Amino acid sequence: MRHLLSISDLENHELRQLVDRGAAIARHRSAVEATRPLAGRVVGVYFRKTSTRTRTAFSAGALRLGASLVSYGPGDLQENTGETAADTARVLSGMLDAFVARTSGTSAELAAYAAQDRMAVVNAMSAREHPTQALTDLTTIAQHFGRVDGITVRYVGEGNNTAIALALALTRFPGTTLHLNTPAGYGLPPDVVAEATVLAKRSGATLVEHHDMTPCPGADVVYTTRWQTTGTSKPDPDWRTRFEPFRVDARVLAGQPGAVFMHDLPAHRGEEVTGDVLDGPASIAFGQADNKLHSAMAVLEWCLAPADDPGPT
Ligand code: CP
Repeated sequence: MRHLLSISDLENHELRQLVDRGAAIARHRSAVEATRPLAGRVVGVYFRKTSTRTRTAFSAGALRLGASLVSYGPGDLQENTGETAADTARVLSGMLDAFVARTSGTSAELAAYAAQDRMAVVNAMSAREHPTQALTDLTTIAQHFGRVDGITVRYVGEGNNTAIALALALTRFPGTTLHLNTPAGYGLPPDVVAEATVLAKRSGATLVEHHDMTPCPGADVVYTTRWQTTGTSKPDPDWRTRFEPFRVDARVLAGQPGAVFMHDLPAHRGEEVTGDVLDGPASIAFGQADNKLHSAMAVLEWCLAPADDPGPT
């Protein structure tokens, strides 16, 4: 039984294993499902915030791997009436094998869920970090390029929970570059820059952040996310003015010849990305969305299944 609360919890080999396993499941999903590695297990899925991809990916992934599912919406648990996260998990851990939670709450809340040793806890997006999105993103890169090592990603937009997880994951892979174009005041948190810089130094990766639209020489991927991250709001009433220059449109993509376009979705066409880019020939964003399922299955297996039989590779 293993938790996945943050990319920082993973050893380098575990991160690579999860990325490779997601790509392998994408190639051999039927064969993996046929083995029903999670038969007899029960997975709880608790989404206090909206979700199309992650909730469905973990629900469908659990069922496809043979597990049973208990699903909780935002109004369902007694946390709403004041039961603590620790008491909730203490009780649920006697009934569930894994608990996949999107609370958009604090890291302390996730840590409280994980303060028991009977039930795996998966962070399906917190205010701070979206670790399973980074696994999906790197699985998509591995699938498209055949590798993650040496890949250059230009990330445009807010230094949000998706960007944080991407920074903590990509910088573990040798020779990678993460070039961020973030509006001033909306960059990566300083402690994430510090942690990712240490990781990059160890692996021979590069992390660079600009608060303008400085292009990224040799980018393999241009990546953006919604300007309004799920479950958050921006106190500055004029925030849109700061984000306007950070739209990925055909001109931005033309400045990165050969790059593919990625987006964690959901998208707002005309805000962070124009429709011609999202729906254009360079976009792999909807294949990336498919990989939410494959990564969720890899995470559930990793949390719950015996490690000695990874199945088809
Ligand atoms: N990318 C992502 O997390 O999508 P959902 O919010 O729909 O789960």
